[in-house]
Order: sequence, then structure tokens, then C-alpha cells
Amino acid sequence: MKVVVNDVELDLAPGTSAIDAVFAAGDDVPYFCSQEYMSPIGACRMCLARVGSPRKDRDGNWILDEETGEPKIFWFPNLMATCTTQVSEGMVIDTESDAVKKAQNGMVEFTLINHPLDCPVCDKGGACELQDRSYEYGDGLSRFEFDKRHSEKHHELSELITLDRERCIHCKRCVRFFEEVPGDEVLDFIDRSAHTFIGTAEGGLPSNFSGNIADICPVGALLDATSRFRGRNWEYDHTRSTGMDDATGAAVIVDARTGRIERIKAALNPDVNKTWIDDGTRFGHEYVDSPDRLEYPLIRRSGELQPATWQEATQFIAERLAGLGGKDVGIAIRADSTLEEGVAAQALAEKLGTGQIDHAPRPDASVIADRPATLTQLATADAIFVLGDVTEEAGILDLRIKDALKGVTPPELMAHGVPIADLRLKERMPRNNGILTVAAPYRVDLMRHAGTAVTYPVGGEAALFRALTKLAQGEQLDDEQRSALGTDEETAKAAVQRLKDADNAVVVLGGFALSRRDAADAARAFVKAVGAKEMPVGPMVNSYGLELLGVLPSHERYSYAGMLEGAKALVLSHLDPARDPDVAAKLKDLELLVVHDMFLTETARLADVVLPARSVYERDGTVVNLEGRFLPVRAAPVEAGNAEDFTGVVRYLGEAFGERLEGRSVRSARRVMKKRFEVDMADLPDYGSILRVRARQALRRTAGEAPAADGNLLIVPSMARAEYLDRNPHLNLAVGGNKLRVNQEDAAIHGLMDGAEVRLRAGGLWRDAVVQVTPNVPAGLMTLPALPEQAVGVTQADLQSLVVNQVRLEVAS
Ligand code: SF4
Ligand code: FES
Repeated sequence: MKVVVNDVELDLAPGTSAIDAVFAAGDDVPYFCSQEYMSPIGACRMCLARVGSPRKDRDGNWILDEETGEPKIFWFPNLMATCTTQVSEGMVIDTESDAVKKAQNGMVEFTLINHPLDCPVCDKGGACELQDRSYEYGDGLSRFEFDKRHSEKHHELSELITLDRERCIHCKRCVRFFEEVPGDEVLDFIDRSAHTFIGTAEGGLPSNFSGNIADICPVGALLDATSRFRGRNWEYDHTRSTGMDDATGAAVIVDARTGRIERIKAALNPDVNKTWIDDGTRFGHEYVDSPDRLEYPLIRRSGELQPATWQEATQFIAERLAGLGGKDVGIAIRADSTLEEGVAAQALAEKLGTGQIDHAPRPDASVIADRPATLTQLATADAIFVLGDVTEEAGILDLRIKDALKGVTPPELMAHGVPIADLRLKERMPRNNGILTVAAPYRVDLMRHAGTAVTYPVGGEAALFRALTKLAQGEQLDDEQRSALGTDEETAKAAVQRLKDADNAVVVLGGFALSRRDAADAARAFVKAVGAKEMPVGPMVNSYGLELLGVLPSHERYSYAGMLEGAKALVLSHLDPARDPDVAAKLKDLELLVVHDMFLTETARLADVVLPARSVYERDGTVVNLEGRFLPVRAAPVEAGNAEDFTGVVRYLGEAFGERLEGRSVRSARRVMKKRFEVDMADLPDYGSILRVRARQALRRTAGEAPAADGNLLIVPSMARAEYLDRNPHLNLAVGGNKLRVNQEDAAIHGLMDGAEVRLRAGGLWRDAVVQVTPNVPAGLMTLPALPEQAVGVTQADLQSLVVNQVRLEVAS
């Protein structure tokens, strides 16, 4: 479709907005209320332009200009909001005439009537859309001399977001975000005209995605509470990287200043997270600056851990390892280690001649799909079946599923990037919830948006999928199979039929489906039976990558759990199994325990050597997300002291052995991967690449211990990483701590009150938690967020070990 913008002729797709036409032409028009991936609403009137178009006569011929003989342009009588104007054939858009400039001046002046001129103390200063647009399009003068509106300056919308009501320009981006993106309607305009303010009815922002409003607020009204007054925008070093908190690998910007991470913002990756991240990814970084971080290596001498250099520590390890090898030595790294660290671990295992190498947490079944779906396919699916609590497990999945419910395909990128005003998106768009089925052993948040919600018996994933497969094959169910469905047979049949009838059906397999191999096998048979694609959700950001790389035991009988039982020497990176007293007792008997971690964990306290580790924000490398997308991880300029990632551990150990081991640096590890995958990870684009690299069959071996199928405690996924929550004060306050969720009946039986602080042995590990009494958990079951040492699934809580903080109880009551 031919459109002319300020004399530049463009060929645009029908449906394009006039504002995008202007940007596609390389011109500029100011705007405040429009926002990528949200509905254009024409609220701020900042994007005004003069717009005209040719008309046809009754016979369908263009009405011609008598002078030029060209189609005559009929100008709209008033200036138009370009964000809500759709281009038409022959449209002419003018953003440069005096009339437009006068209107822009006027709108800037109008918007500033009530906006405080407190830029010098505003956190948004230097990155403020209103500041920039006032400078570019304003007159620099105001004719309004009366007192500005005064309102609350430091209103805590939640523990994570602070609102300055005076600065709000009523663009409605924040209100629309909650309704249109996560579908959590927690914010709204209250009152009218100049008295309008945004607020919540209940208080707080009960949403896993609340931090995004700080990114999209065009002024300094909504601010990230963790970084308030920490620095000016031009002082930050911005590092584009990959969020390391869940298996989707959302794009993030890590802002650091004077060697410290101050905040994390969402970055654009149209194929993964668009421009959104969840609150765990955004606010879960404060632990990095904890004062108790390890700064230098420690060696146990005369029973005490004493400071040492890396050379001394690794020399000590090399000497103690002499004579040990084979399955006497075990190496385990956490599943958010990079591929490069995985290569380093493999090189070390090879040097020590051990096949006891693993990553943890690692589910019983493979996280690599046989019939893989991409996130874009999920977002455009016409039938979706989800097993698990994906909102907590990998928040971006929740949002991409909600994209699919809207039925709007992701917009094509234009010359200027993502369209600013996608006219297909509307406020309060109907969502086709009927295409979504969500199954879980307790009530999960995504069920609010599901046409069919199934609460199946705890540990019943395998039975559920077997029964569903029978329905897909048109077979009859017996009573036992019917009871496994968690809903009535007709409802289940309809959900299965929807998947079978769909052109693009996707089954999302959360941790509960992968935690037991029998459940995963049954799930995969179901996926095949309905002809769907599959999206397994690994427990951590690089679960897929480390399995693909083969950071797995070489023998079916070996495993991380097995090496804790039987090895004589252990090297553990970012893992803390000593929370389990039985394991701790075994660790004490080891000939050598090496712990590579950021903190002096319970396991580190037992170690012979402790090596300071880098956080996920301080490493360079590569991870592979749940769709098989290789994503670049970049280190932010943060003061990490003497800390090293696992490639550094291997470099120092190699020096102690007198060898140059592969994987001794990121570059060296990448050379290994180039040979193995024929891809140079240094060349990955920002958005990453889906590389369908086939894992060799041997590498697909999964050798986890089959977890229990029943118990009284369900380890569940959590958006906020449980292992760091007490070092993330803002996030901890917002989510209310690690929650032991129990239902009313059980709470009464065990004498638990809402808010009570408890300590109990859960699946062997001592855990501290805060009680939440909720009807969403079935009777006889409790739930607790997962730790890296404890993958999701059913286990047993020792209720005899339950300690309730009586003092706190009395205060609470
Ligand atoms: S708080 Fe910010 S995003 Fe929300 S309406 Fe006001 S200016 Fe817009
Ligand atoms: S009216 Fe706000 S961007 Fe168009």
C-alpha cells in the first residue's frame, strides 16, 4: 500500500498505523501512550500529525486534482492521532508543517501543566521520554503560572514499585499493561480529570510481572524500589545479557554502577520475551551484593578454613586428588552453569578419569523434546495443554500462552523494529480461554485463564497422561483411569479433542511431568497421540544446554545423588546438599570436598577447599533455553573480587596439574564447542539462534533416582529463587518468604497459623519457611518452593521435625 510521509514514498502492509509509517520513513513523531506490544488508545494526543488521503467517486475512480491531474488529497479537518490512524492507499502524512509543530508545542506545554519540574532529583532523569520530548518538541516556556497539582510523592504501590503521583501524566500504559499482558487487573485510574490518579483497590500489586510498569512508564512516576536514588541513568553501565532465573532465558539489561548491580530491566527479544520479564528475573539480584560473599579461596588447615590464594588452593586440591580417580571422584555443577562451564567440568572429569559428572537439579526425564515447539509456536497455538505451574516455573511461558489466547500473531518487525502501535491489539480484548487446558495437582494461577482446569491427584501425572492417551485413541476408561483425570470424562474428552483438531497444538510439560520418567514417557505418548508439539520446561536456564552437551554421568548407575553416597572426593559448584544432615554426615567422611560457591554454605563449611564463585551476572558464556535457542550471556562490569566461574577453576587446577585443560577459559571452551556443534558461540546474535543440534543418544541418558510417587509434601517451582530469597530483601518482602502452603484442615491439625515461621525436614533437607494457609492446596498435602538440590515433585515432610516459632505466633495472633 502506497503511503507518503513528508514526501517520502513507502510501500506498507495494510493495517499499519500512521505512527509506524512515520517511523518507517525515518522520521520522528513524539508519543507517550503508545507502547510496543500493547493496544494504541490515543490518550496522550502527543502524536498528532496532518493526515490526508485521496477519495474515490461513485464510479470507483480517484477524484483528481484539477491542477496536477493526480488524485486529490483531502486533508482531515483536524490533526490526527497517528497511533490510532490506519494507513490507507495513497495516504499523505505530514509531521513537519507549522500546524503540526504548534500542536506538538501545545501538547508538551499541556502535559507539563501538572508535571513537577523535579528532573534533578528524579530517577528517570536522563532516560525520561517526557524530558526528551519536551526538549525536542516543547517551546521551553509555559504560560501557566498557577500552582501545580500536588499529590503523594512516595507511594509504595508494593515492596517493589514506588509511585510518585505528581509525576504521572495519565498515559495509561501501566494500567493497560496489567490488563493486556498478564491479565492481572491490579491497577486502575481512580477519580476524574486533573484529580485522576492510579491506584489499586486492595493494595499491593499481586502479579508476577509488576516490575514491567517501571520500564514502560514514560516518566519517573513508577520506579523500581530496589534501585531508587542509586544513580543517574548516564552513570550506569548497561550490559545486555540473558536472564538466568528460568528456562526461557529472557533478554535483560543489567545496569551496574561503580562495580555493583543496581537494577535489571527487560530487553527486547521478539521471539522469546518480547519486552517483558517476570519479577524474579528483575528483582532477584540483590544477593549478589551481600556482604557475606566469599572473597578469596579457603583451605582447611588444623580443622579451620583459612584464607589462601587460588594457586595454593588448587595446588592443595591437585595433591589430594593424586591417587584418586575413576568413580571415586564426583563433579557436579548447578544447572544454571553456562555451556562453557559445562565444557570445563567435562575436561576436568576427563583429566580425573571419572564418569561421575552431573548437573543438578536434573529431572528424571530428558528436557529435550522429540517434537519441539518454539515460543512463537506456543504464542500462536490454537490449542494448548499445560501440565504444571508455569507462571512460577518460567513466567514468560505464562505470557506467551496468554498471547495465544488473544489470537493475534506476533507483529512483523518493521524498519524501525517492533511496531509502536499494532492496531490489531485492543483494550479489553476478548481472550479465547477455551483453547487452554491447565492441569496441576493444586490450583495454579494460570487456571484463571483456562477454559479447562484440571486438579489431578498428587503424583498422578503418569496415570493422567495414560488416561488422556486412551481418550485420544478413542478407548474406554475404567474407574481407576477415570479417577486419574481430575475432572469428568466429558470435559477431558473435549480437551483432548481440541488438541487433536488443532493445526498447531502445543503441550507444555512442566517439572511435575519431567520429575518421573514414567510420567514423562506417558506425557510423550500423549503428545504423539494428539499430534501436538511439546515444550518441556527444564528446572533451570541451562538444563537443556547441559543435557545437550552431555554433562551427565557416563554410566546408567551413576548420578549426583549416587556420588553424594559413594564418592571419596567431590567437586561441587553452586550446590549445597549438606542441608540434609544424612548427606552432611557422608560429606564429612570424604577424603576431599571442594566447594565452588558464592557464600559459605552449609556444604562449604564442611569443605576442605572453598573456591569463591562468580554470580550469574558476572560470567560470559552461552545457555540454551527450553526451545533449544542458544543465547549469549554477558558479564556485567561488577566487582567480583577473586571470584571465578568454573572455567577459572579448571584453569587454576590445570596449572596445578601442569596441563592446559580444555575449557580453561570461555574462549577455550568455545573452541571445543565449535568442533562439537559446528557453531561459534562468540558469533551468536543478541536474539540467539535455535540450533537443532542433535544430542547423541549416549548423551540423552538420564540417570536420576526415580523420585517418590506419593508423599505429604510437594516441592513446587517458584518465580523467586528459594536459595537466595533471604538475601533478596525487596523480593522476599514482596513474595512473603519461602512459603509452606497448607490448607485450612491441615493447618488446624498441625497447629499452624498463617504467617508462622517454621522449620522442618522436607525430603531430607532442613528448610525454613513461612506458613500460608490457603484453600488452593488439597488436604493432606503441603507445598514448598524448590531448591537447586531438590527438584520439583512429591516427597515426604517429617512432621515430627516441625518447629513453629511460638514467639512469632503469639505476635501474629
Ligand atoms: S504512572 Fe506512568 S505509566 Fe502509569 S499512567 Fe502515569 S505516566 Fe503512565
Ligand atoms: S495519542 Fe498517545 S501516542 Fe498517540
